[in-house]
Amino acid sequence: MNQNTLRLGVNIDHVATLRNARGGDNPDPVRAALAAQAAGADGITAHLREDRRHIRDADIRALKDAISLPLNFEMAATGEMVDIACEVRPNAACIVPERREEVTTEGGLAVAGREAELTPFFNRIRDDGIRLSLFIEASEAEIRAAAAVGADIVELHTGRYCHDAASRASELARIAEAAALADSLGLECHAGHGLDYDTVGAIAAIPQMHELNIGHFLMGESLFVGFDAAIGRMRRLMDEARTP
Ligand code: PXP
Repeated sequence: MNQNTLRLGVNIDHVATLRNARGGDNPDPVRAALAAQAAGADGITAHLREDRRHIRDADIRALKDAISLPLNFEMAATGEMVDIACEVRPNAACIVPERREEVTTEGGLAVAGREAELTPFFNRIRDDGIRLSLFIEASEAEIRAAAAVGADIVELHTGRYCHDAASRASELARIAEAAALADSLGLECHAGHGLDYDTVGAIAAIPQMHELNIGHFLMGESLFVGFDAAIGRMRRLMDEARTP
């Protein structure tokens, strides 16, 4: 297939983490989303976790009202979260696995074998006209399961590729193969988790990738150089990876 435009989704969860460390209203995740938008982000991602450790319900509603970019709402497959998604009506709902004790989202959502349990949640999202995105491991079984349950998008987990240098080459090959399979099944392919300036290029170069979602590194880098410089540099690295 021809190379598509690669979008950069900016995850602003950790602006809320910083705000919540002291209570009060600062720094404001909505202001961060607007700054990311001004700096060239193509979408904003926020994860409303069950324990509300960073983004809160009011943030999701305020983000939807304030930004003109597509909102990618990360959420667990629970009745409570589906109710919120159907009320807020983001562009996409990205379903992630969630455990209270984890520091961040560890591993992809297990869809294969759990179709009967998960499909009612997925159907409510899709019936409301919200794009259904599933955050999964780059495995053939999970991609085929995502296609079978009617997902619009798969987001491939890049955590191991980013954090385990010893297996980086084999992980990259696995992600590239999974992206090609997803594309051949009509799924829009996204990727994310742990990406930084060093790791983004090889993932951006995969021709079937449509969107990368990046949060923690960009928020940390922005503390030193600001949103414009951090997002601008990430954008350039993605574009360079796509330049023949
Ligand atoms: N994509 C998904 C589905 C995630 O859960 C996360 C982390 O919240 C990211 C992307 C972004 O990961 P990071 O913050 O490590 O860039």
